[in-house]
Amino acid sequence: MKPYLEDHLRHLAEDELPVYVHDLSGLRRHAQAIRDALPERVELFYAAKANPDPRLLEVLRDVVDGFEVASGGELRHTRKVLPRAHLAFGGPGKTAAELAQALELGVERLHVESEHELRMLCALAADRPVEVLLRVNLPISLGDVPLAMGGRPSPFGIDPSHLDACLRLLAAHPGIQLRGVHAHLASGLDATEQLRVTEHVLVWAAQWARARGIRLSEVNVGGGMGVDYADPGCLFDWQVFGTGLHRLLDGHPGLTVRIEPGRSVSAYCGWYVTRVLDVKHSQGEAFAVLAGGTHHLRTPAAKSHNQPFEVVATDDWPWPWARPAAAGEPVTLVGQLCTPKDVLARRVPVERLRAGDRVAFAVAGAYAWNISHHDFLMHPAPGFHYLDAASPDLVRPSAEASPSAVHAQPSRGGRLAQRRG
Ligand SMILES: Cc1ncc(COP(=O)(O)O)c(C=O)c1O
Repeated sequence: MKPYLEDHLRHLAEDELPVYVHDLSGLRRHAQAIRDALPERVELFYAAKANPDPRLLEVLRDVVDGFEVASGGELRHTRKVLPRAHLAFGGPGKTAAELAQALELGVERLHVESEHELRMLCALAADRPVEVLLRVNLPISLGDVPLAMGGRPSPFGIDPSHLDACLRLLAAHPGIQLRGVHAHLASGLDATEQLRVTEHVLVWAAQWARARGIRLSEVNVGGGMGVDYADPGCLFDWQVFGTGLHRLLDGHPGLTVRIEPGRSVSAYCGWYVTRVLDVKHSQGEAFAVLAGGTHHLRTPAAKSHNQPFEVVATDDWPWPWARPAAAGEPVTLVGQLCTPKDVLARRVPVERLRAGDRVAFAVAGAYAWNISHHDFLMHPAPGFHYLDAASPDLVRPSAEASPSAVHAQPSRGGRLAQRRG
């Protein structure tokens, strides 16, 4: 943990917990390192679904080429936060209203998921120019991946056998310009596997276009770059991926490759910090009950993993009796929900964990708060703090960027802005 982050966590008042702390300077540095590792001809879009927090989007705006949105809600939100950003609109089950909204708000690229969706777009676009990619589900063996969206029977993308019908539709609607194809097939791949899939997609796309006599200028190979929750220090190897892309692009002159990662961009900048309410032993096993839980951070329940964490020990203990504690043994960290599924980490060995200590869950900047079932049991929402060590002054985020109430307090070790969720 960065010293300024740890300092911030130590000084949080008890009633400020649980809180999400986002390290904006860490995000900026990490995203820039990703950008620097990629060849110039590769466009980097950020998948807003991973974390659409306005402060994160604003940091990323200066680094990425654009944003992938996957619903009318994400489209409206991202357009409002970043009025001039390039937007690509993907995702299954787009409604006619969402397609009309996309035309209205001028998205730069539409990723078409089916022949029916293309028919609706043709009907709605009339004479308006639109640039599209056809999202394809290629039959490719993906092995044992954490999340497969394609390569097998799937609701995502278009089966290759249906592409010719799409081409006939496009030929009858010259305002809708086919720029290329899109293939997000899996999430959770390492750099070598991601390169293998990318090569497969590029070769397939080139052969398909040649056979149909069409020119493709763009292939979007999606996101899915892996994040290792069991070993957060082991990052997706962007250098290996970038070098491999350089080599692949040599075989495809004139082609722009676009990627749209989400998790691997924002996951590392987020921490969910809470406190231990109680520690108990049950039939020989230790359990720590924490303020908050999976209704704030659903990621470990959704992905069936242990969320990595660090214990931030505090000596404050207001009661006259001994602190409930576990020491030198595995502990299961649970939340306040009345369900055995409210587990953030299971049987993880700890040196010492006491009621009143703080626990900082790492890798909580993607698919975390925004995928959680906030209202279950009606516990309060967490706070949201934003640290930016790059700037020592205090900022108050614009009320427009967030529907929530915003307040700020004196900075501790970095620029700080905060709001209640
Ligand atoms: C079409 C598409 N693009 C990009 C992403 C982002 O994937 P990840 O966050 O794993 O990088 C997803 C995730 O579901 C997706 O469905």
